[in-house]
Amino acid sequence: MNTIKAIYPGTFDPMTNGHLDLIARGARIFDHLVVAVLKNMEKSPLFTVPERCAMLTAAVEHMPNVSIETFDGLLVDFVRSQQAQAILRGIRAISDYEYELQMALMNRRLAPELETVFMMPAEKFSYVSSRLVKEIFRLGGSVEGLVPELVLDKLKERGRE
Ligand code: PNS
Repeated sequence: MNTIKAIYPGTFDPMTNGHLDLIARGARIFDHLVVAVLKNMEKSPLFTVPERCAMLTAAVEHMPNVSIETFDGLLVDFVRSQQAQAILRGIRAISDYEYELQMALMNRRLAPELETVFMMPAEKFSYVSSRLVKEIFRLGGSVEGLVPELVLDKLKERGRE
């Protein structure tokens, strides 16, 4: 029987409820979903890669077909090394589309055998992004309901700096 494995790549700094919503949707469609955290992209990340992986691992504990990995270099090389067939990306609004289309087509040029699959998170998360979560938290606003409780706890532990 053919099984389909997909890779959901990102920086996840930090993971939001929108990411988690997409992971749950992906886990229902694909036989196996690997959430792949990009290493060494941002110069000053809020959370280290091991911290981000630990939060993701805890958040997907109840999803048996989801695993967490890290990668660096080209995404398509990682996808091939995992023997996966698809890349999962979330599209929140039309504004995401141009960048996502460019990446998907570039990845297709690099690896024509791979497909990028776009899914939409629930509307209530359509305006949530890691960048805004970080900014709001740093400036003293509430990010409750935008990130999982375990991320909220970690943010509070970290302090607003
Ligand atoms: O959700 P994000 O944080 O915007 O994720 C961006 C990510 C990690 C998917 C993208 O930057 C990426 O794939 N980086 C790996 C390097 C690569 O393959 N670049 C060419 C993409 S066409």
